[in-house]
Amino acid sequence: MKILIMGRPGAGKGTQAANIKEYYHIPHISTGDMFRAAIKNQTKLGMLAKSYMDQGALVPDEVTIGIVEERLQEDDCKNGFLLDGFPRTIAQAEALDKFLVSNGEKLDAVLDVNVPSEILVRRMVGRRVCKNCGATFHVEFNPPKVEGICDFCNTPLIQRADDTEATAENRLAVYDKNTAPLLEYYDKKHLLKTVNGDQPLSKVFEDIKVVLGR
Ligand code: AP5
Ligand code: MG
Repeated sequence: MKILIMGRPGAGKGTQAANIKEYYHIPHISTGDMFRAAIKNQTKLGMLAKSYMDQGALVPDEVTIGIVEERLQEDDCKNGFLLDGFPRTIAQAEALDKFLVSNGEKLDAVLDVNVPSEILVRRMVGRRVCKNCGATFHVEFNPPKVEGICDFCNTPLIQRADDTEATAENRLAVYDKNTAPLLEYYDKKHLLKTVNGDQPLSKVFEDIKVVLGR
């Protein structure tokens, strides 16, 4: 199963990707997570990515496409993958198509987790993530059992550097300009499957299983 999960910043891509990964046994590949890991390790890629991410801007296509193509060649992607946060521009989508065709592969579905912009800043600003296992919580909508501590590994939760109100607003504007056109791109290829992301977490996943149809 080769699928993409799309949606505005804060729509719930990472949250649902964790469910999809476990249920369908496919690797979850998030470009945002890859960049955050590079920042943590203070690599050259991390320093470059940080300068864009801190503004809520996109990391240049040639850099992003390169790391995804490299990742997709790893063994665990042979039987499928779930891409989260990539592609984000038409150029990235075209590069992915070209890469898949040259490997005799194709996408099975593109999921769009649809949430209206108005509630997303609140979702981003209230998000807390585990710096050890990456689990995602929300202070209001999905609180951990013990405030500030990860349910799964007992590690303190942190706030993402780009989850400030101003950066979140900019990320939404960047999405509308650069990423929203991809919905039509994939709809024309009859791959687009939209789910309502403005529902309780478990209901969103139930709907995802229905549209993926297996
Ligand atoms: P990335 O990490 O991909 O961030 P994003 O697209 O802004 O999306 P988020 O991770 O913020 O949201 P999400 O949809 O995963 O929501 P989540 O499940 O966490 O990218 C970050 C940056 O990296 C970009 O700005 C860019 O600079 C760079 N980058 C990454 N990929 C790139 C690319 N391809 N090209 C160029 N640059 C790239 O949920 C959000 C919150 O809501 C959580 O607190 C969660 O608990 C809560 N929540 C989730 N679902 C629900 C629900 N149903 N009800 C209530 N609350 C919910
Ligand atoms: Mg995410």
